[in-house]
Amino acid sequence: MPAINKREKWASKIGLILALAGNAIGLGNFLRFPVQAAENGGGAFMIPYFVALIIMGIPLMWAECAIGRMGGRYGQGHTAGMFELMWRHPCSKYLGMLGIFIPFTIALYYIYITSWTLAYGYFSLTGDYFGVATRETMGAYLRGFQGVESNQYFSSISPSYLAYLTTLGMSLYIVYHGISGGIERLGKIAMPLLFLIGVALAVRVLTFGTPDPNYPENNVLNGLGFVWNPQPERLTNPTIWLAAAGQIFFTLSVATGAIPTYTSYMREEDDVALTGLSTAGLNELAEVVLGGTIAITAAVAFFGLAETEEIARRGAFDLGFQALPMIFQKIPLGHLFGALWFLLLFFAGVTSVVALTQPVMALFQDGFGWSRGKTTCVVLAALFLLTQPVIFFLKHGFLDELDFWVGSFALVFFALIETIQFAWVFGMERGWNEITRGAAISVPRPFYYVIKYVTPLFLLFILAAWAVQDVPNKIFMVGVKPEDAPYVWGARGMMIALLLVFGFLVKIASGKKGERS
Ligand code: ALA
Repeated sequence: MPAINKREKWASKIGLILALAGNAIGLGNFLRFPVQAAENGGGAFMIPYFVALIIMGIPLMWAECAIGRMGGRYGQGHTAGMFELMWRHPCSKYLGMLGIFIPFTIALYYIYITSWTLAYGYFSLTGDYFGVATRETMGAYLRGFQGVESNQYFSSISPSYLAYLTTLGMSLYIVYHGISGGIERLGKIAMPLLFLIGVALAVRVLTFGTPDPNYPENNVLNGLGFVWNPQPERLTNPTIWLAAAGQIFFTLSVATGAIPTYTSYMREEDDVALTGLSTAGLNELAEVVLGGTIAITAAVAFFGLAETEEIARRGAFDLGFQALPMIFQKIPLGHLFGALWFLLLFFAGVTSVVALTQPVMALFQDGFGWSRGKTTCVVLAALFLLTQPVIFFLKHGFLDELDFWVGSFALVFFALIETIQFAWVFGMERGWNEITRGAAISVPRPFYYVIKYVTPLFLLFILAAWAVQDVPNKIFMVGVKPEDAPYVWGARGMMIALLLVFGFLVKIASGKKGERS
């Protein structure tokens, strides 16, 4: 019997680590990272990137895993309840509420973008875009798919709408089956497959060699060089430090409230330190090794440095949905490799979507005592309704507005509050005890001081830099077309309304406990 118990314990540990890896590994690893690296100094980007990982990413990951396990001990699966445990003050739950508002709002657009990968996987298999030969026409194909060039939304976006409904339905089906029956099971299937596909694609890219002998400089080595050659002179530019910190946030999914919700299912004696480190390690493997090899390297080999620079400047969607589909048209078995690329993105996206819905699920289940079925229906209805403006006002900047305030700014703000709560209000002695209790690794003592002093100061610096550099332009809508302004205001109104609704809900849920297992 003890042998079975030990095996079960390991299986549950691995299940949790894979679920957490699925939470962290997302579209950001394969689309956002290579663009950020290439745009911000190549190999030199990796210096601020790893600095941010060590002084901010891993400490936050540990703190969030510890906060979640402690919350679970008291029947709290969402950060509003967890913050109340750390600081018994009426304001505390409203600060913690950000850890429900942020993931829910990100889910509103993340789910839509993930659905594009499902559709494009299908289009690759069927060869729907094969024959669309230039980047311009591929761009028009993407815009046509999104329906942004037409006002006849329902007729023009039906494939994209169908993909969106399918992705929403699949995600909520997994959510309905709970953490161990749905999300851990998904992690156990999707994560190994994702790594397998990632390795297959990376090997394929590395064997491209010099695809066109007429252009010998367009080759794989120059592609790798484009991502990795260090440009040390760029290190003095604060922008690349901000970009690196932003990427660490995005990629690890810290400050989205989803990690504490997952770890609230841990048992008292489960290991927080190794779990957090393994999650960050798997994420970095997917990001730096696979994400850093596939897309940009392939683009340089086929389009050359100058054009790839232009693609990278135009962003992750140009790279993933326009440049790569053109390459799939030129290589043998392109239908298959195209389908694999989009399947990789779909696995990465859908595991992150289900994670983003978990904090709001926990709020209703723990705070209101609702069943999983009832909660799933309500969350499904809310997601469905509130995604509509994201879909239909895409071309008016609705999605971009949500992404700036919630997917960038609010994350740093919430991380700062969370670190101060954990290290200063709850107290670093108790916090350290939570991180190290039951740990299978010995957490180096300097991290005690990093979490207490360095992480909050670093976060404060990033927040201040953003507040000076980007926030005024955003607030005053610099660069927004006059005809888009009402939609941008609409996005702001929706965020404010959501904050008020979640504030009201956590007030009612305050002090109520869920049944954790
Ligand atoms: N961490 C997720 C990503 O990288 C959100 O896309």
